[in-house]
Amino acid sequence: MRIRPEASQDRGSIENVNVAAFAGRPYSRQTEHRIVNALRDDHALTVSLVAEVDGNVVGHIAFSPVKIDGRDCMWFLLGPVGVLPPFQRRGIGQALVRQGLKAIKSLGAEGCVLVGDPAYYSRLGFTQAKELVFEGAPPEYCMCLPISGPAPRGAVECHPAFSVTA
Ligand SMILES: CC(C)(COP(=O)(O)OP(=O)(O)OC[C@H]1O[C@@H](n2cnc3c(N)ncnc32)[C@H](O)[C@@H]1OP(=O)(O)O)[C@@H](O)C(=O)NCCC(=O)NCCS
Repeated sequence: MRIRPEASQDRGSIENVNVAAFAGRPYSRQTEHRIVNALRDDHALTVSLVAEVDGNVVGHIAFSPVKIDGRDCMWFLLGPVGVLPPFQRRGIGQALVRQGLKAIKSLGAEGCVLVGDPAYYSRLGFTQAKELVFEGAPPEYCMCLPISGPAPRGAVECHPAFSVTA
């Protein structure tokens, strides 16, 4: 398995990964592939990594900038992250998260936020984001990982691409 930044020819494979990974998931609106495309089109896909097995893209992770309390702050949203179902539970998701966090750190990120399952992300260093508010998300699923300094307080504002509809 190899993790590398996305290349221009990966657009279709990344769409396939997101469609297949989120298919039938009750917490998903199945718009993740559109979100990734909209982020890319708006130059807001700060880090986009693919996982390859035998030359085929089987996983993908995206990071995009957020505003907190109305300010640009070098904090990034992790997600979506997806792995093709036959390749899940082999450590690919964790590897994508770890490599992605390294990549945003190298760009000067001060922290990372996400909405996701605490059971999964606590293993990767995330804790409940008690000082942050994600509109519409249950607080127990709002996680953060400060990289330099404490987490700021306030509302997290994602890129408008996350409001894209089906
Ligand atoms: C979540 C996802 C990216 C994880 O990728 P993965 O390659 O399967 O995960 P890993 O192999 O790195 O980690 C697997 C471990 O995490 C656990 N795990 C995986 N998904 C989990 C989840 N949603 N909740 C809790 N634990 C989870 C598994 O129990 C496994 O541990 P175990 O093998 O010791 O039992 C993948 O399952 C996926 O694409 N899911 C559908 C899309 C999704 O929900 N994305 C995340 C929200 S943005």
